[in-house]
Amino acid sequence: MTQREIGIGLIGAGWMGSLHAQAYRRVGDHYPELPVRPRLLVAADVDPQRAEAARRMGFESTTTDPYAVIADSQVEAVSITATNDVHVELIRAAAEAGKHVWVEKPVGRFPEETAAAAAAVEAAGVYSTVGFNYRQVPLVVHAQNLVAAGKLGSVRNYRGRFFVDYASNVARAFSWRFARDVAGLGALGDIMSHVIDQAHQMVGPIASVCAHQEIQIAERPAAEGATQFAIAAEGSKMRAVENDDYAVSLVHFENGARGVFEVCRTMVGRHCDLGFELHGTEGALGWSFQRMNELELYLPSQEGEDVGYRTVFAGPQHGDHGRFEPDTGVGLGYSQLKVSEANGFLASITDGKQRRPGIAEALASARVVDAMLRSAESGSWTSVGEAIAHT
Ligand SMILES: NC(=O)c1ccc[n+]([C@@H]2O[C@H](COP(=O)([O-])OP(=O)(O)OC[C@H]3O[C@@H](n4cnc5c(N)ncnc54)[C@H](O)[C@@H]3O)[C@@H](O)[C@H]2O)c1
Repeated sequence: MTQREIGIGLIGAGWMGSLHAQAYRRVGDHYPELPVRPRLLVAADVDPQRAEAARRMGFESTTTDPYAVIADSQVEAVSITATNDVHVELIRAAAEAGKHVWVEKPVGRFPEETAAAAAAVEAAGVYSTVGFNYRQVPLVVHAQNLVAAGKLGSVRNYRGRFFVDYASNVARAFSWRFARDVAGLGALGDIMSHVIDQAHQMVGPIASVCAHQEIQIAERPAAEGATQFAIAAEGSKMRAVENDDYAVSLVHFENGARGVFEVCRTMVGRHCDLGFELHGTEGALGWSFQRMNELELYLPSQEGEDVGYRTVFAGPQHGDHGRFEPDTGVGLGYSQLKVSEANGFLASITDGKQRRPGIAEALASARVVDAMLRSAESGSWTSVGEAIAHT
């Protein structure tokens, strides 16, 4: 099969930038039927050292000007992996130039920025992929299929969570993640957006919420230009944290299911615990990213006297597992999810079918975040609306 080349540009050469680049490099090995072969043309980062480092990611040229990436006539698709403050302006510029966009969540700093980005993508008619990478986990896809096939009966209860400890150390320096003008929202935008998207995938749309959010570590040591994982030197000047560390919400789904979502970035002891517990009228299941290749499944009708949860191990029979590993129990990791995401992005561009998660899924998540913000302010149950208020 002849594969045509597709010119790729990247904006933001940090953690996610390197994962997108790696995914483009690997996607042809795992999805050989793709009719395109990504060519890593140009990467930009406003930090010259980061820009230069993008050469090691495989890009032919680098720049400190993100708009040079968009203006390059050979670039057909752009990965936007910069910080949240520049998502909307870059998505708008890329979409208006007719470039397809693979953008990282949460897409902008606030729900109204996600709405503006979605409007720009829809108006331009370009294809989009949004970095809700946990959608690609083979056992999450399997769980979604079990629920959709009615194997667990009707869903009654859903508990979604995302507990991380990256901000639990009080010596962790003040980085862009704690600044409202760069990150926008805190845990509510960063990790609640994943929980909401996963709940949408597993159960469906959300009707109303009753939420609370708070800052748990009020100030952090300010170190000039600190990266998000930096530990500050003792005696550094302190700076006030500007966005939430913790958020929780009661949730009513449109189909009648009830839920609780809880997220925290200062949670001691949980490193990257995105997960859910789902209970239907005829069964239950539970999953955590910390044990990504294991699904806890409870189907009482099949268990006789040994009734109880059992562990299902990921294998080629689940989702895209077989694209990477040929056997059950040989587990996948985080970076492989990005390879599957790259495949969805490139497949949409080549066959003209928009896949999930795209900008529509980011907007759906942002609408729920918006309702949570309004609920936390009013202290009452709040409907998830079409319109998004200005934050
Ligand atoms: N999908 C996920 O699970 C996941 C995980 C982590 C981060 N993210 C998202 O990815 C994005 C980047 O996060 P990260 O962890 O890679 O951050 P990072 O700090 O490692 O990298 C961000 C890079 O963007 C650059 N940058 C900032 N403004 C720019 C501009 N105008 N033009 C070009 N480059 C610019 C910075 O210099 C930096 O190198 C954020 O939106 C974040 O929410 C998603």
